[in-house]
Amino acid sequence: MTYARIAGTGSYLPENVVTNHDLEKTMDTSDEWIRERTGIKRRHIAADDETTSSMGLEAARRAMEMAGVGADDIDLIVVGTATPDKIFPATACIIQRQLGVKGSPAFDVSAACSGFVYGLDLANRYIQTGGARTAVVIGSETLSRIVDWSDRGTAILFGDGAGAVVLQAADEPGILSSHIHADGQYETLLHVEQGVSVGFDVTKAGGAFVKMEGNAVFRRAVATFDLMARETVADLDGHLDDIDWFIPHQANMRIIKAAAKKLEMPMERVIATVDEHANTSGASIPLALDQVVRSGKVKRGDVLLFAAFGGGFTWGTAMVKF
Ligand code: COA
Repeated sequence: MTYARIAGTGSYLPENVVTNHDLEKTMDTSDEWIRERTGIKRRHIAADDETTSSMGLEAARRAMEMAGVGADDIDLIVVGTATPDKIFPATACIIQRQLGVKGSPAFDVSAACSGFVYGLDLANRYIQTGGARTAVVIGSETLSRIVDWSDRGTAILFGDGAGAVVLQAADEPGILSSHIHADGQYETLLHVEQGVSVGFDVTKAGGAFVKMEGNAVFRRAVATFDLMARETVADLDGHLDDIDWFIPHQANMRIIKAAAKKLEMPMERVIATVDEHANTSGASIPLALDQVVRSGKVKRGDVLLFAAFGGGFTWGTAMVKF
């Protein structure tokens, strides 16, 4: 039996940091309101010359360096993103060229904030079935470009960044289990309502920006984390103590706390970076993972649970022996 294991992690954050106090100067909000409702203190925002591919490339390079693999070793590249550089080619193809990888499949996965976990699930299945031996899975987002900076209900929530992992074939797991799901009936609760085939009209109120019904999304997110907790409990035959670290999608501290409660997971075992990065959508889990790997908090052999939730709605989990 072939398994997939995480051989390296990497991440990238733009240098430009925007604090809640900075936002106070441009919109009717306050640091206190944002911290109380979301736990967010600051976010990184891409410079004009930074893109989803440039950030994803840097995260991938760092992950490849940690894994000790070169361009010739890579036989699959998957990018989870809701903010691709272009309509096509895929951001994964742009990164492939810049990495110097030749001939491997390279494609993007569109699953909003669940994009990385979707990509991980796919790459895991490729490796398990012999379709690839070394894969790079990236989550990268330039959300600042689809945020309406005049809408205080959404603008305060998001940030830019990228995270990546190198997955390699191994005789032992690795990825212990993964599940991905979607429920399209909630399309309009969290979406960008403009696009290629429905049309772009930048003069229309809102433009091509994130639109969200915050309260409804909050309730669905908490209910969905409950479903994910049940799936995880079933995978573990009830042995929740087997999980060393819970690394949820970093949307909002209140959602993270509610999710941890469903899993009966003490907050000491929950990784939360939302205060520093805000919601970086598909980048949030690999970004948080890389930070705790490099700080030494997460060690080889630890069991991790990733859980993502995003527009679609999409959601998914992966349990990983690091
Ligand atoms: N600063 C100050 N006040 C704000 C504000 C801001 N940035 N945004 C909204 N408000 C105001 C509203 O206008 C409203 O005022 P009113 O009572 O006078 O009408 C009040 O605060 C309450 O608004 P509401 O939208 O009910 O707040 P909330 O408690 O639901 O918090 C969110 C809003 C967005 C923080 C919350 O709904 C949330 O976290 N939702 C999930 C978002 C998310 O994580 N999405 C991504 C999922 S992947």
